[in-house]
Amino acid sequence: MGGAALDVRQLSVGYGPVRALREVTLEVPEGAVVTVLGSNGAGKSTLLRAISRTLSFHGGAVTAGSVAFAGRPLEGRTPDRVVAAGVSQVPEGRQVFARMTVEDNLRAGALGARGDRGARSAALRRVHELFPVLAERAQQRAGLLSGGEQQMLAVGRALMAAPRLLLLDEPSLGLAPMMAARIADTVREINAQGTSVLLVEQNAALALRLASRAYVLEVGEVTLSGPADELAASDEVRRRYLGVVDETAAADASGAAASHPSLTRWKG
Ligand SMILES: Nc1ncnc2c1ncn2[C@@H]1O[C@H](COP(=O)(O)OP(=O)(O)OP(=O)(O)O)[C@@H](O)[C@H]1O
Ligand SMILES: [Mg+2]
Repeated sequence: MGGAALDVRQLSVGYGPVRALREVTLEVPEGAVVTVLGSNGAGKSTLLRAISRTLSFHGGAVTAGSVAFAGRPLEGRTPDRVVAAGVSQVPEGRQVFARMTVEDNLRAGALGARGDRGARSAALRRVHELFPVLAERAQQRAGLLSGGEQQMLAVGRALMAAPRLLLLDEPSLGLAPMMAARIADTVREINAQGTSVLLVEQNAALALRLASRAYVLEVGEVTLSGPADELAASDEVRRRYLGVVDETAAADASGAAASHPSLTRWKG
């Protein structure tokens, strides 16, 4: 493992008057899986949009700080130049092109990527190996796939650009536990093949199993960070994000619960 593949320093983001991120500093080392945990509205998607340079599509803007990938600043790049630099995003809510075929959705993922036709067909083979269902359903309209299959397609589409860093926005959201576990296995495999991963999740149990390092984001600020196993063992994270309740924790949490929505729907 080398230095930081992704280096986010003191990043602040606003949507007009709304301050969504405040001086967020975070690193993804080369080859690592890093997770950012946080409840609704914490700023997880905002962070990924700031990295992929897609904030302006949502009316947002970086107000301070920097984002660099592989030692080069991403500021000033268009989203397709970020893809060309090796960073691909799987957006929140999958956003597959419902009326297009599965195959055309995958093709769209290769737009803006570096590499010739040979590289594209190698990427397609890799996606089909990871997700055989996408080969079987190549000619089917993407909107007819199940939620889990659409998530596979969204991940596959991002992989078509052969990224060095994959940004994943809540890939387990809305999936049954079995399907969420499959997605998790795939993330592990993608990482084992050499792609670094920044995984944003409310499903803390799943994310902490996958990641080596974790950050907790609350109302736009990083409030906790450290090795994933240490965070998984911390009372704070267990109580608030893993739905683990013991008597003292329950007493402590009764005050905190009002201001911080719990994530217990994702326990297990
Ligand atoms: N397009 C937007 N315009 C204005 N405010 C926004 C916009 N998108 C997000 N926000 C605000 O920015 C803050 C962070 O939102 P963000 O979507 O990044 O949170 P999140 O952690 O991804 O939440 P969730 O888990 O619900 O997806 C919230 O206060 C939200 O209301
Ligand atoms: Mg979000």
